[in-house]
Amino acid sequence: MEKTQTSYLDKIRETANWIRTEVGELPSIGIILGTGLGELVDHIDIHQEIDYKNIPNFPVSTVEGHSGKLIFGNLGGKYILAMQGRFHYYEGYDMKEVTFPVRVMKELGIETLFVSNAAGGMNKEFRVGDVMVITDHINLFPENPLRGQNYDELGPRFPAMTEAYSLGLIRMADDIAAEENIRLMHGVYVGTQGPTFETPAEYEYMRIIGGDAVGMSTVPEVIVANHAGMRVFGVSVITDLGGKDVKEVPTHEEVQKAAVKAQPIMTKIIKKMLERI
Ligand code: HPA
Repeated sequence: MEKTQTSYLDKIRETANWIRTEVGELPSIGIILGTGLGELVDHIDIHQEIDYKNIPNFPVSTVEGHSGKLIFGNLGGKYILAMQGRFHYYEGYDMKEVTFPVRVMKELGIETLFVSNAAGGMNKEFRVGDVMVITDHINLFPENPLRGQNYDELGPRFPAMTEAYSLGLIRMADDIAAEENIRLMHGVYVGTQGPTFETPAEYEYMRIIGGDAVGMSTVPEVIVANHAGMRVFGVSVITDLGGKDVKEVPTHEEVQKAAVKAQPIMTKIIKKMLERI
């Protein structure tokens, strides 16, 4: 056990060192481009790109042709690192693999992390296409990425999750939404392993326990980012609605379509936030 844990720490450092030798400038802001933020790439003044498959210790993609890449460049006047493509737990990666890029980001000096995703809405006020700032989350994944021996170098054994999503950044997003006349919802994101969408009873259950939207990502990365002392901002596109009274069947295609439609709003908010950070 000790041996495996040690090599995990070594791997993080090895990967970060390798990236350091590849790139000229190191960013202080990281962005995980989930569904709904893909278009943001078009706004980045790209300095350098690195395919995941060329990065030592990076998880190997399960989907052919979807390896993903790290993008270094300028956005909103800031030098950023964007992850195009993330590793989902439902694909079969373990929690350490899913969150490995966040560990590497921190090792590279990144202190602020933006995450985006697509989510199903349980909150009865929500409409398809709404953008929801994540104010908090509920971890319904079958495990926690911090399970196992703790590395004090990475963070505390029992980290607080009281402000998992930075109140300052939430406020900033609200200000921008008000100025830009954007309908911006707030809500609690429930993270589940998927890959099934929820049954009507499950959506109902998640609403009753305090969730506003549900998705299959984000929570592991945000837990690790908080463990590492990073400041986090999360945003969801509501791509479908779920609950006992909802008759529509969510499909991957519908999720993609709704996410694409919300992209300009997501892009505007993130870009303007970067300008103000
Ligand atoms: N459930 C889980 N994950 C999702 C959903 C959903 O309804 N929509 C988009 N991602």
